[in-house]
This record gives sequence, structure tokens and C-alpha cells, in this order.
Amino acid sequence: MPHNAYAFTNPYADAPDSSYGVHRESVMSQAGFDAAFAEISSWPGYSPTPLVSLPELAQALGIAELLYKDERGRFGLGSFKALGGAYAVANVLRLEVQRAHEIAQVSSKQLLSGAFKEVIGAATVTCATDGNHGRSVAWGARLFGCHCVIYVHETVSQGRRDAIAQYGAEVREVKGNYDDAVRFAATTAAEQGWTVVSDTSYPGYRDIPLDVMHGYGVMASEIVTQMSNAPPPTHVFAQAGVGALASAVCANFWLQWGTQRPLFVVTEPTQADCVYKSLQAGQRSVVHGTLDTVMAGLACGEVSELAWEILQGGTNIAIALDDAYALEAMRILAKPLGRDPAIVAGETGGVGLAALLAARDHPGIRQQLGLNARARVLLLGSEGDTDPLIYQQVVGKTALEVLA
Ligand SMILES: Cc1ncc(COP(=O)(O)O)c(C=O)c1O
Repeated sequence: MPHNAYAFTNPYADAPDSSYGVHRESVMSQAGFDAAFAEISSWPGYSPTPLVSLPELAQALGIAELLYKDERGRFGLGSFKALGGAYAVANVLRLEVQRAHEIAQVSSKQLLSGAFKEVIGAATVTCATDGNHGRSVAWGARLFGCHCVIYVHETVSQGRRDAIAQYGAEVREVKGNYDDAVRFAATTAAEQGWTVVSDTSYPGYRDIPLDVMHGYGVMASEIVTQMSNAPPPTHVFAQAGVGALASAVCANFWLQWGTQRPLFVVTEPTQADCVYKSLQAGQRSVVHGTLDTVMAGLACGEVSELAWEILQGGTNIAIALDDAYALEAMRILAKPLGRDPAIVAGETGGVGLAALLAARDHPGIRQQLGLNARARVLLLGSEGDTDPLIYQQVVGKTALEVLA
């Protein structure tokens, strides 16, 4: 009996030859992506993450090519999230300094120089997280020198809490799920005069999540450069929590590859399939409950308002799958076929492969996706072993042993 998985073809998807258009341009733009790239690529420790080819696994799955963008090494934080939260923190602080000193433009070099220590040191940033976003905000706060309070819900693992605290942030627990923590962070910030640096947007709160999303676009821009000598892939699989990553990648590829852009597939856990449910309903829909899944980064019940504006027409197919597929994907990546390289993917990192495994077991899904011997598939390896203990429990080896 295959594990549970289901797919939905979005009837409202824009046609392949549709232009990106002015409405979407007012959400995420090329100028926004370029500004984020210029800033983030100037930070100490920046280098593009690898785009890895897995030819033997591709053959076993009956497709022509399988590419995996491996975010494990991103700024030493273990996931692509390093790009978004920290970039938004930099922009929050830049605005604070500009306002306080009545100057037009402050560069991140100036922020890092210590010249504005007093203003920066008086600021506090906060957010809710299921692990990786909070780590990025905490890292950005440490890098630029402000205070940081991070809210986690009950099921966030100790390893992920420790990884945030390591950057000097105060970690506080909130009863309930991720969405409860989002609301709690917003209320407390309003009372305390702190700035919420959230990766999800809601009515009246758009500028900061937009910075986060433009930051994520760095990952897509690197992929476009890394593939500049090859045609774009035919399919991209993007895992979605609140949908910020998926929408940033979708927008960036649309802007850069135009009508050549790949079929865009959003993947989610069956326990937290808010993009799937929203596409099915034709409007943003909330998934309630514990959102209990091993895919910790995807345990979100509400699509971000901004992400929805892109994903509504940009998603071709949504797939929801059981945890068992995510765990199998981690093990397969750790123990590669033939001469394929070993990859360390956390519970949320290998979800694109998990969707391919679901398609392997469910011929209807494979057909819906149009997967065949000509398909060239891109997966977003969004995290490495961000909780090393959980990784070892699932795979039976540490990351170092896998890569040895
Ligand atoms: C590793 C990882 N991948 C993917 C996601 C999903 O990103 P988003 O919430 O922007 O959809 C997350 C979110 O926390 C994550 O941590």
C-alpha cells in the first residue's frame, strides 16, 4: 500500500505564455530581487550554494535529469532562511538609523561599522518561527547588533531552539501552533514597541515580509546563473509552509525565464496543506489543528497574503504527502545510487524528492505532473541537518558520516 499523497491541478494557473504582469510586479519585482542580491552577496561569508546533479537517481525515477539546490551551507545557518530574515533585519535597522539621524541612505557596511551603535542597540526585533526563520532573524540581529526575542510553539524541537539561542536571542514558548505564535509575537511587539520581522504577511503588514521574500530570491537568481548554459528545467518542486519561499522562486523564475519558466509544483504535508486547500477553494483558506508533521518548516496553516498573490496564478499543481515520503527522501539522499553524491537533507529539505517518490507510487500523480523520460526536474534542497539529533535518528548516521 503506498503512503498517502494527493495532487490538484490548479484551474486558475496562468497560461505558460502569460507575462509576469503589473500586478505581480507590484508585489515582487526584478528591482527588489536585484537590491536583495546586491546586499546579501556583500555580507561576510557569502558564496552561492551548490546546484547538484543526481543522474542515477533521475534514471531510477524515469526522468532525464534531477537537480538539487543544496542550501545546507548557507552562511553556516543550515538553510535558505538565512537569506530572508537577516536581510529584513538589515532593512529595519537601516530605516531606524535613517530616521534617527535624518540621513537619506545608510549602507550595510555603515551598519556593521559600529557608527550607529546607539540607535541599533536600542532596537528589538521579534518573530514567530518553527526554527529556521527565527534562526535567521537572530543571526541578523547578532550581526548588526540589536536585541532579539523569538517565539516558538510547543512542538519546536530543543535542537532548533538551541540553534536560535546560540545567536544571543531570547527564545520564548507560546501555547498552540505556529499560527498562534505569529499572533502572539504581533501583539507583544505592539505592546513593547518592538519590530516584528515575520516571513508571513497579513492585512496591513507587507513591507517586511516582502524584504524576506526578495531575500529568498537570491537562491533562484543563483540557480538561473548556474543553469545559464542549459535550458531551464521542465519542472520545479517548491515546498511551502506559508508560501514565501515558493512564491519568491516562482516570481524570480517568471521574471528571468519568462515563457520558458518550468511547470511550478508546490509540495506540502497532508497535515498542513494550506496552499493546496486554497487553490482548491480559489481563495486563501486556513487549515486548523496541530499541523503535526515531521516537515517542521512546513507546519503552517495559513498562506501568506503576499505569497498568495503570486501562487494563485503561478502554481500549476499542488501536492500533499505523508511524512513517510519526507523521511524516505532524507534516507535516499543520504545513501545515493551509484556515483551520485551523498546529500544531507533535513526533514523539510528533501520534500521535493518526497513528491517524486509519491509520483513513483501513484501513477495518477505522475501523469498529472507530466513526468516522463524527457523531464528535467529541479528540487529546492531548502535545509540540511538543522536539527542534527533528529537527522541522525531518521537516517541512522550523522551528517559527517553521510558525507565521509
Ligand atoms: C527548510 C525550510 N524549507 C521550506 C520552508 C517553507 O518556507 P515558507 O514558509 O516560506 O513557505 C521552511 C519554512 O520555515 C523551511 O524552514
